[in-house]
Amino acid sequence: MEFQLKDGLLLGAASAATQIEGGDDNNNWYDWYRRGYIKDDSDPSAAVDHYERWREDLALMKDMGIQCCRMGLEWSRIEPQDGVFDEKAIAHYREEIQALKEAGIPVLLTLHHFSNPQWLEERGGFVQRDNITYYLRFVRKMVESVGDLVSEYITINEPNVYAYNGYLEGAWPPGRKSFLEMSRVMTNMAAAHIEAYGLIRKTRLQMGYKDTRVGVANHLRAFAPKDPKNPLQRFWAERVEELFQGNLTKAMCTGRAVFPIGKHPSIVPGEFCDFHGVNYYTRSTVSGPADGTAENCPVNDLGWEIYPEGIVEVCRKVYGLLKKPIYITENGTCDNEDRFRAKYIAEHLQAVCESGLPVERYYHWCFCDNWEWAEGLSARFGLVHVDEETRKRTVKRSGEFYKRVIAEKGVSKALYQEFCGGEYPRNGEEQG
Ligand code: BGC
Repeated sequence: MEFQLKDGLLLGAASAATQIEGGDDNNNWYDWYRRGYIKDDSDPSAAVDHYERWREDLALMKDMGIQCCRMGLEWSRIEPQDGVFDEKAIAHYREEIQALKEAGIPVLLTLHHFSNPQWLEERGGFVQRDNITYYLRFVRKMVESVGDLVSEYITINEPNVYAYNGYLEGAWPPGRKSFLEMSRVMTNMAAAHIEAYGLIRKTRLQMGYKDTRVGVANHLRAFAPKDPKNPLQRFWAERVEELFQGNLTKAMCTGRAVFPIGKHPSIVPGEFCDFHGVNYYTRSTVSGPADGTAENCPVNDLGWEIYPEGIVEVCRKVYGLLKKPIYITENGTCDNEDRFRAKYIAEHLQAVCESGLPVERYYHWCFCDNWEWAEGLSARFGLVHVDEETRKRTVKRSGEFYKRVIAEKGVSKALYQEFCGGEYPRNGEEQG
């Protein structure tokens, strides 16, 4: 293996507020923790203490040569009660974003990443159409507050995962198991995105800025039939893809509502993204109307198939919807001992660089080990290790590798040999 980074591709790191910051217990995820639903019982109001240690994390980013950063805001911290904004919290984010900017690390800002203020959750979150106005009020407030520092925004992170896990599977807050509610949440989030897309651009224009870029971070999986020769399985692979992600992505970027996305006055044909945000991790192998994993394939420590070609498959698909630049807004893997993360990065980056697609950003997920939603602190995705007790940061071997890839603008044979010898685990049996 040997390749050069594509011209114009920036290498960055991504994170989300709830997963790293700590210091806030006013959201739906803290409530979920309080009710005992986190696998290792780790507390999101502690997370990895980034809210206090952001300067230390920034120093590490600088040292690694990180070229851009995707970060999120904790809505519940900024608006702890309906309509009451905490100016100190906003000043904190301004300071952090400004410092990143001064370090030459521009910010792609996520406005919603799975976490709702508890007061909004109690009013039904995104299952209630009327609640979209609360989201838009928050979006406007934040763009007015940091719009001079940030030109690029993600309206919503992975609305399909939020809707599926929280409203169909019941594994995430609010723990519902209703297809109808999942469909409503997807519809309302598509509408919220379309409205926020216009609002962010308009607000920044009023502030005198014309260079705004807005998109969604879509969670996109590759999908394959278990037996490619079986027409029924091919049929199901396509249907599951559409239901889980394809039709929602279509609605968000082009305003076309196809089941399970319902009608909403804001979902009308148009173009609603300036870039395609792609979060890519894995492939699903299906033989019927359910998710599954191929037999005996390489997997990460959570059992997710490792399939580097998939990153190109999903990018081609969204690029086919609209010819817009592509940002890999997340790509990474759960590798608790940091045995194969470097190899994973090399293979996915190579696929991106050789695809011929206009990929402009690659944000590795995650900058540091983080609080991984229902998995708690037990699943490690970071380039930087965080000690569970002391929260001490240590750059991992894969972090060293990433630093070298950035500095050397690619992966040479020697670099690959030095860092990427780790073998992927394999799953023995079919899951799901
Ligand atoms: C989410 C992240 C999460 C990552 C790894 C994505 O679905 O946006 O918040 O940590 O995957 O599970």
